[in-house]
Amino acid sequence: MTEHEDAAAWVPSSRELADLESAAQECRGCELWRPATQVVFSSGDRSACVLLVGEQPGDQEDRQGEPFVGPAGRVLDEALADAGIDRSAAYLTNAVKHFRFEQRGKRRIHQKPDVRHLTACRPWLEAEMEAVSPDVVVALGATAARAVLARTVRIGEVRGRLLDEPDRPVVVTTHPSAVLRLRGREGYAESYAELVADLRLAAPYA
Ligand code: URA
Repeated sequence: MTEHEDAAAWVPSSRELADLESAAQECRGCELWRPATQVVFSSGDRSACVLLVGEQPGDQEDRQGEPFVGPAGRVLDEALADAGIDRSAAYLTNAVKHFRFEQRGKRRIHQKPDVRHLTACRPWLEAEMEAVSPDVVVALGATAARAVLARTVRIGEVRGRLLDEPDRPVVVTTHPSAVLRLRGREGYAESYAELVADLRLAAPYA
């Protein structure tokens, strides 16, 4: 099997999350597996009503093998708690399952995934959606929104309401990293409050 096509060839027919996660370890659907430490698949279980999608694992997530365990994860945890959503009852995943970065000396600098990475990884997200069949999906940031909705949206134009999508409602909100970047600066409180307000739209489903 050649690399750089998409993940479809690696996705098993099973919709057990454990089977999906273990098959994903072998995925060569794009080149991102090479420099990454490991696949970061998801956390949460198949009975979750709220499924949250991020962009891709960051440095900490890549090292620990869990989504949203780094600084952006701490912002998300706080916002989820303030929105009345129990993180442990939600399912958390990413549009792209490997950390894309540029090595600069000892530092690994986050690089946004390209559309081809989103496309390559989408079969995993589709399989997860089938497995979990959540009542609502929350896309964190424009990259996640593109993966979930299969179209490009501007966060400012679609946030603040439930989008009526064919399979289930979708909430699009800002990525917690964008909120984190404002910490200590003007605009942080407002940006955080907007994130919480968007997450509250999903809370009744939790
Ligand atoms: N950012 C993401 O989009 N996902 C993670 O898992 C961590 C940071």
